[in-house]
Amino acid sequence: MQPVGCRIAKMRKERCRKQLHCRYRPIYLIVTTAIATWTGHGSVRCMITPHATVIAQRPGRVTAMSEVINVAKAYDKGRTLFMGIELLVAPGALVPRPETELLCASAIDALRQLNVAEPRVIDMCCGAGNLACAIALKIPDASVWASDLTDGCVTVARRNVAYHELTQRMSVLQGDLFDAFSGLSLDGTIDLIVCNPPYISETRLRGDRAPLLELEPREAFAAGPYGLSIHMRVTKDAVRYLRPGGILLFEVGAGQERQVTTLLERNKSYERISVVTNETGEGRVVMGYRKGATT
Ligand SMILES: C[S@@+](CC[C@H](N)C(=O)[O-])C[C@H]1O[C@@H](n2cnc3c(N)ncnc32)[C@H](O)[C@@H]1O
Repeated sequence: MQPVGCRIAKMRKERCRKQLHCRYRPIYLIVTTAIATWTGHGSVRCMITPHATVIAQRPGRVTAMSEVINVAKAYDKGRTLFMGIELLVAPGALVPRPETELLCASAIDALRQLNVAEPRVIDMCCGAGNLACAIALKIPDASVWASDLTDGCVTVARRNVAYHELTQRMSVLQGDLFDAFSGLSLDGTIDLIVCNPPYISETRLRGDRAPLLELEPREAFAAGPYGLSIHMRVTKDAVRYLRPGGILLFEVGAGQERQVTTLLERNKSYERISVVTNETGEGRVVMGYRKGATT
């Protein structure tokens, strides 16, 4: 048995640690993201000491978006493959990348595990509609609402919906994130939201990532000073649309998984937050469940 004085000192120390954690968590997020952006490295882990000193650890290269595919060739052909499905592509909408198949496969797995009849799905930032169409084709009783900001994306996504004869179960709407769904009474009814948002910082788009803008639209890549502006907004706004137990899944840039996990944690409306890694061990999908399910 520890002496009382010793136990009180231990409790005080623990309380102090918790207070420091709450107070400095927002600063932590901003500082780690800023270091990652300024240094051109991702995976910056910081330790906040009781004196609020920030120590950067373990930097690793950020790979923002696959350059393996030939965008010009895909636009030339007007077609590409995604999840084994033929998709129409055209300038004005990002050519779907192979790495986004991890997000799509994770969403399909998660939906199958939910095991609900006629699941309701949102594809936020739908681009060419690749995620929305693939999910609708693989889950034949799903209803899918897709949305994007730009005319180019909405046009291409609607062409893909028609091409795959999905008009009965899919709608493509246009607007700034969830604004597109206002008036549709979707609040609290959605089983899964999938989102591959833009995630490249303005600094990098002016620097080493500038070549991405040669053929594809800026809206597909630009995500504010730290590359997280859309993740931040969607994390907050998705809460209103997900039913309790519903799932939010994001694609993240390599090295961003820690920051996006922290966003979901800090929101307090999500639980069972996890990272899905690709074959090389990079965390490229972050997911969490809307709190409040009874089971
Ligand atoms: C990385 S692309 C992803 C496209 C597609 N989902 C995919 O997986 O290939 C990001 C998309 O987000 C859209 N976007 C950017 N800002 C947006 C906003 N505020 N509201 C809705 N969509 C937005 C862009 O137009 C672009 O199509």
